[in-house]
Amino acid sequence: MHAERVLSGMRPTGRLHLGHYHGVLKNWVKLQSEMPCLFFVADWHALTTAYDDVSVIGDSVWEMVIDWLAAGVDPKQATVFIQSRVLEHAELHLLMSMMTPLGWLERVPTYKDQQEKLANKDLSTYGFLGYPLLMSSDILIYRASHVPVGEDQVPHIEFTRELARRFNHLYGREPNFEEKAKEAVKKLGGKAGKLYLQLRTRFQQDGDKQALEEGKALLDEAKSLSQSDRERLYGYLEGSGKTILVEPEAKLTEASRMVGLDGQKMSKSYNNTIYLREEPEVITKKIRTMPTDPARVRRTDPGEPTRCPVWNFHQIYSDQPTQEWVLKGCRSAGIGCLECKQPIVDAMIKEQEPIRERAQQYLDDPGLVRAVVDDGCERARKLAQETMRDVREAMGLGY
Ligand code: TRP
Ligand code: SF4
Repeated sequence: MHAERVLSGMRPTGRLHLGHYHGVLKNWVKLQSEMPCLFFVADWHALTTAYDDVSVIGDSVWEMVIDWLAAGVDPKQATVFIQSRVLEHAELHLLMSMMTPLGWLERVPTYKDQQEKLANKDLSTYGFLGYPLLMSSDILIYRASHVPVGEDQVPHIEFTRELARRFNHLYGREPNFEEKAKEAVKKLGGKAGKLYLQLRTRFQQDGDKQALEEGKALLDEAKSLSQSDRERLYGYLEGSGKTILVEPEAKLTEASRMVGLDGQKMSKSYNNTIYLREEPEVITKKIRTMPTDPARVRRTDPGEPTRCPVWNFHQIYSDQPTQEWVLKGCRSAGIGCLECKQPIVDAMIKEQEPIRERAQQYLDDPGLVRAVVDDGCERARKLAQETMRDVREAMGLGY
C-alpha cells in the first residue's frame, strides 16, 4: 500500500462554532496521532463563492488557525498550512484541467445544488465550476490516502478517484514502461521476482483478486525497491501504467450531533451558534435564552425533553444521572427550565476553558501562529513539489 496520509481542509469563512468543534476538529485531533496529517486553510476555495466579498477571508484565516491549535491540533504531529501559500496546487489544477471532461464537473451534485442555494449570487463562473477539480488537486498533490469529509463531500472524493485513474491511464505509460518494469522485477531478486510474475499472470489472465493482493503485499515488503520502481511494479501488476497519482479514500466524518440553539443544524446562517472561544457570559446568556419545549408555558406545566432543543445539548454534555434528572424533572414539572439549563452552561464553559487557555498564547504572540504556518507551508511544499516533478514529466513537460 501507499503510505497512509490524511489530508483535510476548511474554508475560512467566519468564526468556528461548536458544530465545527464536535464535528470536525475533535476528529482531526484524534487522527493526528494515528497517521501523518495535513490540515490546510482552503482560502482559494473560499474565493470560489466569496469572490465579491473577500474581506471575510482575510479576517478569518488566522482566527481559524488559532481555533484549530486551541482545539488541540498539534503542529508537532500535524502539518498546518495555507493553500494559497503552496502555489503547486494551482499548477496541478491547471494541468489537470486539460484532461478533465466538462461533463464530469457539471455532474458533481454540489454544483447545481449550491448554485440554487446561493441564488442571489452569480455562480456561473469558471472558478466555481472548477472547484471540485481544485479540491482534487489539493488531495492528489499530497498523494493522500484518506480524506476526512462529511457526507456532502463524498462525491468529490469519488470524482478525485476517477480523475486519478484517468490521469494514470493517460500519462502513466512511460515510453519504455515495459522495459523499466522488467528491470525492476530483477531488482526484486530471483525468488520474489518469479513469484511476482506468477501472481501477475494469475491476476491478469484469470482475474484472481487474491493474487493481486498477494502481489501488492509482496511489493510492500520489498524494502530495497525505490519508490519509483515500486510504483512501476504496482502498475505492471495491475496491467495499467505507473501509478503517478494515488486514489484517495473518503473517511466519513460522522455527522455532528451538535445542533444549534433552536434545534436546527448549527450554522452561522441560522444565527443559532455558540462559537468556539465564546465568552462565558455570552455562553450563559445564549443558553438561558434558548427556546424550550413550547408546550411548557408555565413553570407548573410538565414538559417533554424530546421536543426540547435543550435536551440535545444534555445528550452531548451531561452524564447519565443528570440526564435522568432532566427527564424526570421535566416530565413532572419538578424542575424549572433555567435550572435544567445550568448543567449545560457549566459543562460548556468548562469544555472551553482549556481551549481559551491554549488560544491565549497565540493571541498574545501572533508570531507563534505565523511560525507554525510558515513551517507547515514549507513541509507541504516539499511534498507537493515531489508530486509535481512526476506530473510534469508524465505530461511531457520534463524538458
Ligand atoms: N471542500 C471543502 C469544504 O468546502 C474544503 C476542502 C477543500 C477540502 N479542499 C479539500 C476538504 C480537500 C478535504 C480535502 O468544506
Ligand atoms: Fe427543556 Fe429542560 Fe425545560 Fe424540559 S425542563 S422543557 S428539557 S429546558
